Amino acid sequence: MEPSEVQRGLQDVVALESRICFIDGREGRLLYRGYDIRELAERSTFEEVAYLLWYGRLPTAGQLRDLTQRLRELRILPEPLRAWIGSLPATTAPMDLLRTAVSALALFEPEETRPGPSSIGGAQRLTAVLPTILGEFHRRRSGRPPLAPRPELSAAAYLLYAVLDREPTELEARALDVALILHADHELNASTFAARVTASTLSDLYSAVTSAIGTLKGPLHGGANERVMELLDEIGSVDRVEEVVKERLARHERIMGFGHRVYKVEDPRATILRRWSEKVGAARGNLHYYELLRKLEEVVHREKGLYPNVDLYSGSVYALFGIPPDLFTPLFAASRVAGWTAHVLEEYDDLRLIRPTAKYVGPTDLAYVPIGERPDDPGPAGAARPA
Ligand code: SDX
Repeated sequence: MEPSEVQRGLQDVVALESRICFIDGREGRLLYRGYDIRELAERSTFEEVAYLLWYGRLPTAGQLRDLTQRLRELRILPEPLRAWIGSLPATTAPMDLLRTAVSALALFEPEETRPGPSSIGGAQRLTAVLPTILGEFHRRRSGRPPLAPRPELSAAAYLLYAVLDREPTELEARALDVALILHADHELNASTFAARVTASTLSDLYSAVTSAIGTLKGPLHGGANERVMELLDEIGSVDRVEEVVKERLARHERIMGFGHRVYKVEDPRATILRRWSEKVGAARGNLHYYELLRKLEEVVHREKGLYPNVDLYSGSVYALFGIPPDLFTPLFAASRVAGWTAHVLEEYDDLRLIRPTAKYVGPTDLAYVPIGERPDDPGPAGAARPA
């Protein structure tokens, strides 16, 4: 087959068929297994959405009860891993912690890491335990006592309890539950694609999630939510938004939280998170970040015609809870692990090794010159990789 033209970043390349997530980038629509994200955010819970992503249908009351129970049982960490987390320097980057802890966990749970249907157990295990890994680390670095499993708490409430060391309010728990729903899956985004590439070699689920976490960490992907907050703190007040944005754009810098490879209109998740940012801010009597973000949206859209993506408002909600910014992307991972593992299971069910080709543009047919006959000055860099 004639190689097609290069599509940098695989933009608009259809790599596989999937039944998990549908995105209409022109209409700004997002469906999980056929259900509109707006309805799921309004009426569902993260546990129910995880079931939907893994099994392809909404659960019965009994099925949801069983899954919820199972996820709460799976929150516990093996003692040696808990001790290892406690031994880490407080300066450890939480995304590096997550990536390494998932790898280490596989060493304690080999039966869950075999490819194939047995990996639904690994999917549930990782979805249940990521909050514990984050909570244990954050408590240790804050000098607070270890985490209790708290089986009575929902996934969202437990995640908040794990990182805040206090009972979340009902509003906080619901706001985070909605954020977890919104971040749970997004078709072949970079981290999900990384997970599928790993699974497509028949490697195990824990390796696939490790690949995904390393990919999500990047500021052009999941790392953007933390950088949005850094930008807001640099701007400081609404009357400085215009000046700072224009300076950055003049330097051809990206404004984090804006633009998207697929959405050419507003990301429907940003629409929902904007409402929650205002709601939680108003409840806290603190609309500082919300007002900055509204002005930021106005300026970036006027100057670059760009729309907000999921990362623009999420941090403003987490900051109001008192969650430190370096845990924002890990919160993204604690949700997206449900989507990553759903895609890994789908890959195992319909396996095809993912291996694109490259258009070779380097030199060909170079004559090998023995080292003693090579000139001291090898010529311009690029002909061969410089030493
Ligand atoms: C996520 O794929 C997913 O689904 C991801 C995600 C998910 O749920 O998994 O939705 C989560 O990763 C959201 C995106 C978070 N990242 C950011 O907010 C970082 C800032 N955004 C940009 O880096 C950018 O918009 C991307 C990476 C998200 C998308 O970039 P593309 O599709 O590669 O677009 P591009 O780089 O080709 O840009 C097209 C033009 C360029 O202008 P010109 O150089 O041609 O004049 O738009 C400009 C870009 O400079 N542009 C921006 C911009 N995003 C694009 N200019 C300033 N600020 C931006 N944010």
